[in-house]
Amino acid sequence: MATALITGASSGIGLELAKIHASKKDNLVLVARTIVRLNDLKSELEKQYGIHVHCIEKDLSRSTAAQEVYDETVDAGLRIDYLINNAGFGDYGWFHQSNLNRQQEMIDVNISSLTQLTHLFLQDMVSRKSGRIMNVASTAAFQPGPTMSVYFATKAYVLHFSEAINEELKGTGVTVTALCPGATISGFEQQSNMNGKGFFHRKGHPTSAVVATYGHRAMLQGKSVAIHGFMNRLLTFTVRFSPRQLVVKITRKIQEMGN
Ligand SMILES: NC(=O)c1ccc[n+]([C@@H]2O[C@H](COP(=O)([O-])OP(=O)(O)OC[C@H]3O[C@@H](n4cnc5c(N)ncnc54)[C@H](OP(=O)(O)O)[C@@H]3O)[C@@H](O)[C@H]2O)c1
Repeated sequence: MATALITGASSGIGLELAKIHASKKDNLVLVARTIVRLNDLKSELEKQYGIHVHCIEKDLSRSTAAQEVYDETVDAGLRIDYLINNAGFGDYGWFHQSNLNRQQEMIDVNISSLTQLTHLFLQDMVSRKSGRIMNVASTAAFQPGPTMSVYFATKAYVLHFSEAINEELKGTGVTVTALCPGATISGFEQQSNMNGKGFFHRKGHPTSAVVATYGHRAMLQGKSVAIHGFMNRLLTFTVRFSPRQLVVKITRKIQEMGN
């Protein structure tokens, strides 16, 4: 039986990815701060699928968190076949008025822990010549994002980092997929203080289950970049051929919608 480690499994896309892996009879390591939600999910999935679920309560904004997660899996004798770096959040508002601690925590979760976990688990995967990593980026990765400047920049990092190491890993049996969802129904809108603003000003966004299914398939196929949804793919394609000054102005207009 394979084992999938999923960060941010207490809600949204991560929770749905946990359900998908469980339905394929993969064992799970679930990581988040909200241990009650992880334990509820553990009970549900173990009962339904007869798998083993190991929960780790961890705040990934702490500098030692990634090493502690890795050490706990080693101590428990777990081999990680799928690493899914999904935990993340944003913070809507002007940068100069923002809480700097929250911006720093975002960098720590979205970038630092993701990079450290990838480094730690990748060594074992390369030695075994097999493994799949999925790093959850965003369509925000493709342009600068006024009103969420740090968030957009963290996702640009995730996308570029993932593409680069996926290329380095050619021939090793290990692949890295950057999943780029557009606006998706989850806890993200509220956690990021968006509440109907920016890309959330209109309705009809996909559910976390739909995005998770798409991402899971892309990871198994070893795709380098997986952008969910035709309109999102069109948008990211258009951005590449548009003047940067225009792109940043249009993004600002969209981000200010719903205010
Ligand atoms: N929803 C969207 O529109 C959208 C679009 C593009 C990309 N994304 C990306 O998709 C990923 C998943 O987000 P989601 O939409 O599923 O949002 P969500 O429902 O808010 O889930 C976020 C998950 O991240 C975890 N998390 C947040 N801060 C953490 C911390 N300090 N330590 C450990 N875990 C932490 C949360 O768990 P705890 O609170 O229990 O710790 C939760 O399980 C994120 O990387 C997000 O940037 C989302």
